[in-house]
This record gives sequence, structure tokens and C-alpha cells, in this order.
Amino acid sequence: MKRILVVNGPNLNLLGIREPEIYGKGTYAELVKQIRDHAAARGAEAAVFQSNHEGAIVDRIQEAYGAFDGIVVNPAAYTHTSVAIADALKAVAIPYVEVHLSDIDAREPFRKISYVASAAAKRITGRGFAGYLEAIDFLLSL
Ligand code: DQA
Repeated sequence: MKRILVVNGPNLNLLGIREPEIYGKGTYAELVKQIRDHAAARGAEAAVFQSNHEGAIVDRIQEAYGAFDGIVVNPAAYTHTSVAIADALKAVAIPYVEVHLSDIDAREPFRKISYVASAAAKRITGRGFAGYLEAIDFLLSL
């Protein structure tokens, strides 16, 4: 059975409350359920992790080495700042998809910079929750 790790960065635990005009009304718990159900329907397993702390995200990515076939990562604000998360993803060398709920290229200029984009197998932005499900399908197709 293929195993996919989904990593979500800071403030994504507040989905449903947080700027719903940008991120939608769906809650974080609903996102987790959709991800788990989607993977299970395809005969795969998804582990879902969220943290507001950069080092905890680095630790989780490191622990994925040898244990997962693909990573779906939405580093949230750390997308635009974190060399450490980008380096961890490269270090474990597990194919990963960069996902953003919103269309980050159509927002403030500082959101156009992504440290994780260059080594990503694919990038999905502006598709809301569906972006995570598309990312899982892509990783399972590899
Ligand atoms: C985000 C976009 C980031 O710029 C922002 O800091 C987030 C969420 C998204 O999913 O659209 O927290 O990654």
C-alpha cells in the first residue's frame, strides 16, 4: 500500500475561521477527512500533520524518510521564508507536491517567492481543498 504524508504549516489549523473569503469555509477537520477518505478510496493511506512551528515541520519531514512514497506539502507562510523546510524536503528525496489553497501568484508580491518550488514534482495553487486531492492522485500515479 502506498503511503502519502500531508504536511500543513502555520495557521492552517484555523481553516474555516481564518479569512474564509481567501481560504474557504471548510474547516481543518473537514480537510483532513477529505484527504484520508480520498487516499483510502484509491487503496492508499494518508498521514496528515499540521504544525505552527518550523522545526516541528522539519522533524516530521525527516521522519518520513523511508516511510512514505510521496509528500503533499503546504508550508503556508513558511513557503516564503523557510530554507530549512526546503532543505529537509530535498534531504529525504521523497517526491513532493507543493499545494496552496489560494492562488499565491495573484496575491501580495511577497507570496510569489517559494523556497520549496524548485525541487517540487508539481505545484498546485488556487484550487482550495481539491488541490490536495489532485496532489495525492499525482503522487499515486508516479
Ligand atoms: C497558503 C498561502 C500562503 O501565502 C499563506 O501564508 C498561507 C496559506 C495557501 O494555502 O494559500 O498560510 O499557503
